[in-house]
Amino acid sequence: MNFELKPLSLVEAASEKCDALLVLVSDAHKPAKDGFSALVARALKDGDAHSKAGKILALYKTPLSQATRVVIAGVGDGSAKQVRAGVAAALASVKSDKLKSLVVAFASPASEPALRAAVSAVADGSYSYTTTKSKPEARVLQTVLLATGNAAELKAVFERAVAVVAGVELAKEWANRPANHATPTLLGKAAQALAKHGKISCEVLGPKEVAKLGMGSFMAVAQGSDEPLRFIVLKYSGAAKSVAPTVLVGKGITFDSGGISIKPAAEMDEMKFDMCGAASVLGTFRTLAELKPAINVIGLIPSCENLLNGRAVKPGDVVTSMSGQTIEILNTDAEGRLVLCDALTYAERFKPRAVVDIATLTGACVVALGSVRSGMFSANVALAEALSTAGDVAQDLCWQMPLDDEYAEGLKTSFADVANVAGRAGGAISAAKFLQRFTDKYPWAHLDIAGSAWKSGAAKGATGRPVGLLVEYLLATANAPSSAK
Ligand code: BES
Ligand code: MN
Ligand code: ZN
Repeated sequence: MNFELKPLSLVEAASEKCDALLVLVSDAHKPAKDGFSALVARALKDGDAHSKAGKILALYKTPLSQATRVVIAGVGDGSAKQVRAGVAAALASVKSDKLKSLVVAFASPASEPALRAAVSAVADGSYSYTTTKSKPEARVLQTVLLATGNAAELKAVFERAVAVVAGVELAKEWANRPANHATPTLLGKAAQALAKHGKISCEVLGPKEVAKLGMGSFMAVAQGSDEPLRFIVLKYSGAAKSVAPTVLVGKGITFDSGGISIKPAAEMDEMKFDMCGAASVLGTFRTLAELKPAINVIGLIPSCENLLNGRAVKPGDVVTSMSGQTIEILNTDAEGRLVLCDALTYAERFKPRAVVDIATLTGACVVALGSVRSGMFSANVALAEALSTAGDVAQDLCWQMPLDDEYAEGLKTSFADVANVAGRAGGAISAAKFLQRFTDKYPWAHLDIAGSAWKSGAAKGATGRPVGLLVEYLLATANAPSSAK
């Protein structure tokens, strides 16, 4: 799919030949004098069209436009949220296998958030997963022209939004693939494929190398499966070697059965999404490859299956992590923190300016925040603020959760330095407290994306979150003084 941005007035946009023209009308819209604008104004005046977000009026082959279909779509106050809702509704109304070319015209000049929202809503609304279908219904939409009078001043925002789409779609692709089509080995190959882009290199470690590193916690999870583990190290080098990198760590459990502490059967298929953290790291690197910012970023992905065979780790087993800390594995279903802790220790070698881990870590986070906001944890005020702001800008929201030491009480045990689970109460926070023990050496944040990374039910599928947030955060670090994390 190819996006283009042009400085066109509404009437100019209406004279572009295309399969559909979406006219985005906000509350503040003031019509121009030409015939097409008059048509829109008349429809609004008569109440057939409305600027309220999500209201649409569809026309077919009006002589006033070269577009086959015209949809007048309300985008309310023109905010990102309402533009997203308006574009989604308009696109759904013309969802047609004939829709190859689309023009999205802002009736009044677009703001930066509005343009970003329109690009991402068009991508989301036309996305189609095909990899494991025998008769794939591939995305039909080929060209998308965004038309707004002030296009020149929006060029940079537009380019960033289009690059984020590429990253989000790579993340969706890998997250949506079933576990037998997205093994740790295949994830490693996907990461290696990213290294064909300039400035990116990739190294994939296997069981032998990981054993040599002493990642006893990660290995304990992997030992219950016949599928070999992979530890993926991605490097994006856009700045001088002397510039400290940001490290992203993505949970890459390609299937989480729970292990011996096995999960119930209902909806267990959704545990193929337990590598959405890893997918978001791959997606973010895809976007970096596109934008080539002057920063350094490391991506770490500990990837394995959480299954159960005769060698599987058992409740009560004690393992030694790479940090030297011993861990009593009371519940084999709390495996995410076990693979992440060794990756967090590995991250120390990069002397990072900050480390952000991204993980579908706890059902408790879904209970706390639902699917709207990712859980965000950090004891570093500047880092927390930077992530929160990035989420707002990208409309990929997160919400800061607490890290009081009292939440770690339940992790105490007589048989090791730490247990891998506490009680049910505050489960997302005790998981974060577990991870925090491995992050003394650098500013650290944790994103629990268990609720935000995919949708359940009829619209089951990955969302590509939080690629938008991560990209926005990383690009902001390019301009921030080194003290501000
Ligand atoms: N991958 C799951 C978390 C999860 C569960 C994400 C449901 C999305 C939906 C994680 O590995 C897990 O199983 N966590 C346990 C932890 C518990 C045993 C302390 C959980 O949340 O139940
Ligand atoms: Mn689990
Ligand atoms: Zn898991």
